[in-house]
Amino acid sequence: MRISPESIPMPQPTTAQPLTAHRAGPLRGTIRVPGDKSISHRALILGALSVGETRISGLLEGEDVLNTAAAMRAFGAEVVREETGDWAVHGVGVGGFSEPDDVIDCGNSGTGVRLIMGAMATTPITATFTGDASLRARPMGRVSAPLALFGAEAHGRSGGRLPLTLTGAAQPMPAQYAVPVPSAQVKSALLLAALNAPGVSEITEAVATRDHTERMLAGFGAEVAVEEDGPARIIRVRGEVELRPVTLTVPGDPSSAAFPICAALMVEGSEVTVTGVGLNPTRAGLYVTLREMGADLAFLNQREEGGEPVADIRARFSALKGVEVPPERAASMIDEFPILAALAASAEGRTVMRGVKELRVKESDRIAAMASGLRACGVEVAEEEDMLAVDGRGADGVPGGGRVATHLDHRIAMSFLCLGLAARRPVTVDDAAPIATSFPNFPALMEGLGAAFRRENG
Ligand code: S3P
Repeated sequence: MRISPESIPMPQPTTAQPLTAHRAGPLRGTIRVPGDKSISHRALILGALSVGETRISGLLEGEDVLNTAAAMRAFGAEVVREETGDWAVHGVGVGGFSEPDDVIDCGNSGTGVRLIMGAMATTPITATFTGDASLRARPMGRVSAPLALFGAEAHGRSGGRLPLTLTGAAQPMPAQYAVPVPSAQVKSALLLAALNAPGVSEITEAVATRDHTERMLAGFGAEVAVEEDGPARIIRVRGEVELRPVTLTVPGDPSSAAFPICAALMVEGSEVTVTGVGLNPTRAGLYVTLREMGADLAFLNQREEGGEPVADIRARFSALKGVEVPPERAASMIDEFPILAALAASAEGRTVMRGVKELRVKESDRIAAMASGLRACGVEVAEEEDMLAVDGRGADGVPGGGRVATHLDHRIAMSFLCLGLAARRPVTVDDAAPIATSFPNFPALMEGLGAAFRRENG
């Protein structure tokens, strides 16, 4: 039984929603977090590039992914949410995108806009992309410049920023490109562009970033070969392929699971289990770091789902110590540094995070946002272009009491709300609305575990 596209939940414009976290009793219980954001975007896009029906269960229904669903519809695919909560995508095939008749608004999502730009770059159509104030401030030249190697042409604002108009290549060429920044979004955009270019394109990354695109391309029937060269990866994709639709289950997002897990580690007496969490090694660096800090973690029922390793993760409150996070681990935990910084504030001793300058071009400048928020909560912090260090308060506890600016960044909001559950005084975030981009039921799930959140004005 299908429901019409009009009844699909769509992101609504929101006003700022301040939210305050109070010191809580123990957090206890078993939860499942929403589907992986990275995999959800890719499932919709690859489904739209396939011929036939792709079926997706466990899709993240957060604003970022809903914007990608709307974009795939604008490019001509049929995307429907069924009453069961499963999604079906009727793709138009590689090279089959039609020209959207309006601007594509990707909201807050860097992944959405960059991957979609790649997916259309080798089809001779023109589309204009925009997003919210956070996305419009982020660098897009890192994608549009290498897409030019395939023959695409982009015109953006200064620095290649959105709004940006992209015209796909009428006669695409295969490309060879070494991605100069550790970015799975850039890598993935180029791999998607390569699908409609003749011959083999070759994309190299100096360190391994999340490899969901490579895994999923293989699942959809593309010819992909990954060669390891020390820490580097050379990925070769043959273009002009026909992708086969698949049926897939999206695992729980490890980047979302990180919040309840780290909150449980911080709040005395807690024990929380998060079931069905994706544990792809290119995403699992946080868990290595947490173990080094002395976290009591158990990985239960380890299994494989939809081509990705999955486990149930149990976390118990732990007395943690500060650690040095080596730069070579940064890519595998890039989205987890905000919650790690919050956790480090309650550990004993200093935690130093190096090789993290990509954090400066996320939904916000996350080094600056964490540093100023932590200072507002009475925590000493040192920051350099490429480094963040947090002096943990250990047994003294985090003073708290700060009002933190979240800069339209969901992970900054969730990190400080978790910190507030353990701090001596409440912590307020100025706007919790962006949490809906990746983890819409975060407040409800956390309250179900025992968290105390208070909304302003009621
Ligand atoms: C993502 C890649 C990462 C990550 C983002 C999701 C992806 O961004 O921070 O949340 O799905 O490819 P970068 O490519 O900018 O590193």
